[in-house]
Amino acid sequence: MSQKIIAGFVTAFLLMGCRDQERDQEQEPAGEAPAANEESLPEGDPATGLPSGEMRTVEVTDAKIAQGAEIYARNCVACHAEEGAGRLGTGPALNSATFLAAASDDFLFRTIYRGRSGTTMPPWGAVLGRDGIEAVIAYMRSWRDVEPAELDDSPSTGDAEAGAQVFRQICAACHGNSGAGYQETSNGTAIGRAAFLSEASNGYLRHIIKHGKTNTPMRPFGEPEATAVANLTDEQIENVIAYLRANAW
Ligand code: HEC
Ligand code: HEC
Repeated sequence: MSQKIIAGFVTAFLLMGCRDQERDQEQEPAGEAPAANEESLPEGDPATGLPSGEMRTVEVTDAKIAQGAEIYARNCVACHAEEGAGRLGTGPALNSATFLAAASDDFLFRTIYRGRSGTTMPPWGAVLGRDGIEAVIAYMRSWRDVEPAELDDSPSTGDAEAGAQVFRQICAACHGNSGAGYQETSNGTAIGRAAFLSEASNGYLRHIIKHGKTNTPMRPFGEPEATAVANLTDEQIENVIAYLRANAW
């Protein structure tokens, strides 16, 4: 049996343990109040407070933008820079046009709410509450007027083994051999981690890999007119997505 399969069993076992613990906790009498700001705690889906499967849309008003700008200046600017310009190796760009087009409000909400476990992106849910997170998203939307991209969210059809080769030859240089991101390379983000892959849809991945992240070193791999160091066919893009999904950690 390979180490990976054993590790898979161990992880599944640990997860089962956690679930049991959660169940046990639920059965305890509701004695002590939770430490965090209770109003901000979710109902329904743990990251959004919405019934699962429902997408959040954030209302953008002048008041929300102003509130979000203040929250951003206090909590986000140190890593993501003024107006989301990003600091390579510290915080990715948030104002890139292709990023804002591909990232749904729901994806942004979940990411900010939960953070990216294993990276320096902290979870903001308990600090900012739903209201604060929606305000910061409204502020992010005010940076650029972009049409939401049409995403192809169909299931991934790629071949993970073929994708492994593409990943090692092209992506690993910036994202790290294990996809650990900044911790490995000080350059690309942690695209190998479950914390990212569990929130990023196939449509988001396809769009960013194909069209890149404008104004960052993440170049468009699907576009033949871009410098032809490594252009990828749709099939190769599918393969690398299958590889990432199969190896999320
Ligand atoms: C201590 C540094 C730090 C702070 C403070 C921080 N972030 Fe981040 N953020 C990061 C890093 C690092 C990542 C990328 C992690 C990875 O490798 O996946 C990230 C990722 C993100 C992403 C996903 C971007 C993408 O390319 O997918 C969003 C959205 C985001 N942060 C929003 C925020 C907001 C809003 C705040 C303030 C409320 C904030 N961050 C505060 C470090 C930070
Ligand atoms: C030249 C360096 C470089 C190479 C090569 C590269 N990337 Fe990136 N990639 C980046 C950087 C840098 C970012 C984050 C940009 C930023 O700072 O905002 C990124 C971001 C991404 C994101 C968005 C992650 C997020 O947090 O939202 C995805 C997905 C991605 N890359 C996939 C790939 C894949 C797949 C490959 C290989 C085909 C690849 N990248 C090759 C530098 C690179």
